[in-house]
Amino acid sequence: MKSSNHSPYKLFLLALVLTCTALSGCSAAQHKRIVRIGHNQSTSHPTHVALTAFKDFINERLGDKYVVEVYPSELLGSQTDMVQLTQTGAIDYCIASNAILETFSKNYELFNLPYLFASTEAYHHSMDDKKITEPIFSSTRKAGFTAVTWLDAGTRNFYTVSKPIESPADLKGLKIRVQQSPTNIEMMRLLGGSATPMGFGDVYTALQSNIIDGAENNEMALTDNGHGDVCKYYSYDMHQMVPDILIGNNMFIESMSPEEQAVFEEGYRLVNDVQRREWIKAVKAARQKAAGQQKVQFLYPDQAPFVQACSPLHRSVLLSNPAIQPIYDQIQEYNNQYPTLSEDNES
Ligand code: GCU
Repeated sequence: MKSSNHSPYKLFLLALVLTCTALSGCSAAQHKRIVRIGHNQSTSHPTHVALTAFKDFINERLGDKYVVEVYPSELLGSQTDMVQLTQTGAIDYCIASNAILETFSKNYELFNLPYLFASTEAYHHSMDDKKITEPIFSSTRKAGFTAVTWLDAGTRNFYTVSKPIESPADLKGLKIRVQQSPTNIEMMRLLGGSATPMGFGDVYTALQSNIIDGAENNEMALTDNGHGDVCKYYSYDMHQMVPDILIGNNMFIESMSPEEQAVFEEGYRLVNDVQRREWIKAVKAARQKAAGQQKVQFLYPDQAPFVQACSPLHRSVLLSNPAIQPIYDQIQEYNNQYPTLSEDNES
C-alpha cells in the first residue's frame, strides 16, 4: 500500500473487472458464476488469509457453480470505491472499515464512537452478539448491500513522525490523518488535533511528504503499510476499536438458493474465525518488527484525558439517532462484565 491507489495498472484492472462483469461471460468456465471480493490489505494480512480460506471453502463446497476471486491491496479502488461497486453489484463483496459505512447508514456511527468498548473482551462479545450487530448490519439493505460478518481490526492509536503524543494537548496543531467519517473528524476536533481525512492507500505518501504529521491505526499499519518507517512514536491511547465489515451485494445474495446461502453463511463464519486467530499472531509480530527493525517507540499515556475529551461525542451521536440507544445500552452490559482495557490487545 505504499503506492498510490490510482496507478494506471489498478485503473486498468478495475476497468477489466468491470467489463468482465458487464459481459458476464469472461470466465473460462462460462457456466460458473464468478464471485468477486475486494479489500485494501496486503496478501500477508489476516484479512487476505481469511478471505483465501473463504475462497477455498466455497470452491470446495460449491465449486461446480461458483468461483471466488479475491482482489487485495486496493486493486479495485479505495474502500469507498469498493463499497459503491458492491452497492451496484459490479462486484459481489468487499471489506470496508465500519468508519466509512456511516456515510451509508447513520447506525454505523455507533461502532465508530471512541472508547465505546471498555475492553477487547467487551468488544468481541458485543460484536458476536447478533442482538447488537443485526440492527446495524441490516441497516443498509435499502442501499443495496448487507453486512455478513465482522473482522477484528484491533485498537486504534495515534502515531506521529516526530512528536510523541502523551496527552490530547500534544495533538494541538498536528495534522492527523483520519478515515473519511464525520465521527472521526469530530473526534479529532474534540481532541484538539487537525483532522485530515483520506483513503488508506494515500497515507504512506502523505506521511513521507509531510502533508500530515501523523495518523491513527492499529499496529499492522506500522509494518504492513510501512508507516513505521516514517513514524517513530506510537501512543497507546486506545481511542477506538473499529471493526472491519464484510459486506455483500443483496441481489447476488438473494440470487442464491437457500442451500447455497447456508454454505456462504458457513463461509462468513469461517472468515471471522480465521481472521481473528490470524489477527492475534499478526499484531504480536507487527509489534516486534516495529520495535526491533523500525525502531518505533511505544508509549503508554494516561488514557483518562483522552476519554474525557471524547465523551461529548457519545451524547451527540445518541441524541441525533435515538434508535441506537438500546444497542448502546446492551454494549454497556458487556462493558460492566468486562471492564478492564488491556494494553496488550491480544485477547
Ligand atoms: C485498518 C482497517 C482498514 C482501514 C484502515 C484505515 O487497517 O483494517 O479497514 O481501511 O485501518 O485506516 O483506513
